[in-house]
Amino acid sequence: MIYETVLTEIRGRVGIVTLNRPQAMNALDHRLLNELMDALNAFDQNDAVGAMVITGGEKIFAAGADIKEMAEKTPQQMMNGDPLAVFDKLRALGKPVIAAVSGWALGGGCELALSCDMIVASESARFGLPEVTIGVIPGAGGTQRLPRAVGKALAMEMIINDRRLTAQEALQHGLVNRVVPVSDYLNEALELAEDIASRAPLAVRAAKRMINASYESLLADGLAEERRAFYRLFETEDRKEGMTAFVEKRKPEWKGK
Ligand code: HXC
Repeated sequence: MIYETVLTEIRGRVGIVTLNRPQAMNALDHRLLNELMDALNAFDQNDAVGAMVITGGEKIFAAGADIKEMAEKTPQQMMNGDPLAVFDKLRALGKPVIAAVSGWALGGGCELALSCDMIVASESARFGLPEVTIGVIPGAGGTQRLPRAVGKALAMEMIINDRRLTAQEALQHGLVNRVVPVSDYLNEALELAEDIASRAPLAVRAAKRMINASYESLLADGLAEERRAFYRLFETEDRKEGMTAFVEKRKPEWKGK
């Protein structure tokens, strides 16, 4: 697949996808969403990649779904085309995905960041879900993920009254992992991703899956599933290597097996 709206690159063990529709503020049109997902899937299947980073530009992460593309759509076209189903695929990725956000992350752009496993923000990052201002609601997980991330009170303000957060506010309310100067945000995300990529891959995947499951299941189901995942890791060579290396006071060598 030749991409027109995203750029891809592998640096070290990190797969990078850069949203690249600057003339439209990186609005997430049909093509961009499909290309983004195709690129992420390819990285997820690639053994040379241990973690992924999604980023945009310094001034704009993404301004949300493409309003011009949506403006004339009928309900039937939206339901049949189901353009947001692509977000389910993002959720199903096995390897950790970090959003490196600078500038606006609005609407679907904010939801894209919320769908990632961690967010590194630049000091100029701004987060908001302004969908009600154009007569819709967040459709890619915002009403479900935002309250879990920042609590009901703030989520209500953000979603029903277009309250937008600065990077520092987002940090304070637990929406992002860290805030760094604009000149550093991509490097910071890449270093974090590289660090994660150096860890036991199967354990990282299982941990990611279980943390995300904790948001999606009842506590009792989540605890039972976590225990099963923990025991299953005892079948892996990496688990043996990790524990043996600790006892022998050396660095483990991960095989991903
Ligand atoms: C289509 C968009 C767009 C969008 C900007 N543009 N956002 N086109 N869809 N979401 C286009 C503008 O029309 C303009 O095109 C060009 O990009 C530059 O945008 P400006 O508004 O002139 O730039 P600026 O004044 O710097 O303002 C930047 C901005 C603003 C704050 C990001 O553009 C903005 O508020 N955009 C809309 C944000 C929004 O409402 N998002 C929610 C969408 S609904 P021209 O042709 O004039 O140069 C949504 C549903 C979620 O996301 C569903 C899940 C995916």
